[in-house]
Amino acid sequence: MCGIVGYIGTQAASQILLEGLQKLEYRGYDSAGMATILEGDIQCVRAKGKLLNLQEKLAGQENPAQVGIGHTRWATHGKPEEYNAHPHTDTARRIAVVQNGIIENYRELRAELKAKGHEFRSDTDTEVIPHLIAEYCKQLKAGTLAVEMPTSSLFFEAARRAVNDLEGAFALAIISADFPDELIAVRQQAPLVLGFGQGEFFCASDTPALVTHTRVVLPMENGELARLTPMGIEVYGFEGDRLRKHPQTLNWNPIQVEKQGFKHFMLKEIYEQPGVVRASLEAYLDSEWTPDSPSNPVRLGLPDRFYEELEHIQIVACGTSWHAGLVGCYLLEQLAEIPTQVHYASEFRYAPTPLMPNTLTIGVTQSGETADTLSALEMEKRRRLDREPKFAARMLGITNRTDSTLGHMVSDLIDTRAGIEIGVAATKTFSAQLVAFYCLALDLAVRRRTLTPERLGAIVEGLRQLPAQIEAILEVQERYIGELSHQFAETQDFIFLGRGINYPIALEGALKLKEISYIHAEGYPAGEMKHGPIALLDAKVPVVAIAVPGLVYEKVLSNAQEAKARDAQLIGVTAMNDDHAAEVFDDQLPIPTVDELLSPLLTVIPVQFLAYHIAAHRGLDVDQPRNLAKSVTVE
Ligand code: F6R
Repeated sequence: MCGIVGYIGTQAASQILLEGLQKLEYRGYDSAGMATILEGDIQCVRAKGKLLNLQEKLAGQENPAQVGIGHTRWATHGKPEEYNAHPHTDTARRIAVVQNGIIENYRELRAELKAKGHEFRSDTDTEVIPHLIAEYCKQLKAGTLAVEMPTSSLFFEAARRAVNDLEGAFALAIISADFPDELIAVRQQAPLVLGFGQGEFFCASDTPALVTHTRVVLPMENGELARLTPMGIEVYGFEGDRLRKHPQTLNWNPIQVEKQGFKHFMLKEIYEQPGVVRASLEAYLDSEWTPDSPSNPVRLGLPDRFYEELEHIQIVACGTSWHAGLVGCYLLEQLAEIPTQVHYASEFRYAPTPLMPNTLTIGVTQSGETADTLSALEMEKRRRLDREPKFAARMLGITNRTDSTLGHMVSDLIDTRAGIEIGVAATKTFSAQLVAFYCLALDLAVRRRTLTPERLGAIVEGLRQLPAQIEAILEVQERYIGELSHQFAETQDFIFLGRGINYPIALEGALKLKEISYIHAEGYPAGEMKHGPIALLDAKVPVVAIAVPGLVYEKVLSNAQEAKARDAQLIGVTAMNDDHAAEVFDDQLPIPTVDELLSPLLTVIPVQFLAYHIAAHRGLDVDQPRNLAKSVTVE
């Protein structure tokens, strides 16, 4: 949701900013821009559309400026036109600002500033910020305002005052042509990371923009302003109090954010799933454990207070992470027998369930930055403050980004070991979230003695086989699904059906398809089809049914037959060598035969491939689908 980057140092800033923006383009790609300080003036270049358009505009321009800020936009206020692209400047074009977030009180501020003679040139909320800073600079210079921070520069003081007037969630990078040795970074409810190089300093919305230059980083916290100069970085609170901070060293490698020969990040990330599932299982399942061992095979490292008298679990998440939560709910209820509810974070925030005692709240988010999920967790924490001990908040985060805001917000995390995901459509992070739920449900089941030793042994053994089984699907299916996808070049609607633990996979298949191919797709519990959606079916609407052996197998096959009777083309995600299914389905996407309880980690692979190939065959931008962004940091 908008990517921002800033640089101050000894090298030419523009190339570094462009490279940083390339790494952040997954956050928004409606328009892009950068501002540098060149020969005493702000030089601002902006372009509508993808970053490539900005690159073309900048090509051939010599720009030795050593300080600058850049932005890639996901439009909130104002259409994605060049005049709304960031950076935005004040009337005299001496101050430039890039923003990620939303300034909620921008209308009032704009009216006040206009009344004072400031000229606005865009429809954005962001534009009030440079004007406000310019206004404070003017008043501080004129001496009509007392300087509260005599040790800092006038520019910093003006920015600090302006930031205190803003309401909303925002991250900012700010430069001024009158203070060319300073760059100001601000964080309030939107992510921003500082980077420390040798005589050069950075800020960015996310670490991939920094790792080619430095691995020494400091994620900023809410209510902080940083002053970057060629000499170093100072961090302050919004009140002007200097803060002592300790940077950390990232242990990841720049290569993780490259395509490594794959056509798209999404395809690379689909192929990374066996490794991700293996890494999570190795981290959380005792490799020495056998069904004869008396101990618990799961080692999540969570404190005992998590488990004491636990009566309920509530899961909050959005999108694909919400689908992982649905699978988690099934596992927690069926294996550990704990009543569990799954909520859309955006709904839970404003309509929470009545407060239940002894409740564990789990936030699931791959980015760790989704505003709805973070606010839902924050709200839950708040409403449990100062209540009787049985209502005390127990919060758990499930994420692959332990360095994210979520990582700082909750005391306990399950790191899903998926690493960073670049493709906007979530794939490997979903599988990793599922593994986290399998481990959590087993952990609780062992503690609550809700599984027989035989069943526990079979599930653990089944989990250990999954990475090789995913590899087998990847090896066999890609070419077939690639060819099958050609049939859907003109298709406009798809239906996905599943039941029980595979109902969330039907939802996920539909979401993947709609977000990257722009084909209308819906997922339904297969038994619900006859209650309405069946009216949609005809020969033009293909139906994908997940029909793997288990409790609901025959039922799904019957539901699929009902679709076939309405001339729908039937595609089955089925077990290998299932002759019965072969008679029902027009096309089969087979997976190895597994316990139905473990099947989501396999059934999801063909539906990911199907979405990927249909979109790629249509020539669409798989990694950066229209209107979407990887990290949704606004409400
Ligand atoms: C779908 C997708 C989105 C995200 C959703 C939540 O492919 O990526 O639906 O799942 O925006 O994002 P996180 O998991 O970062 O909270």
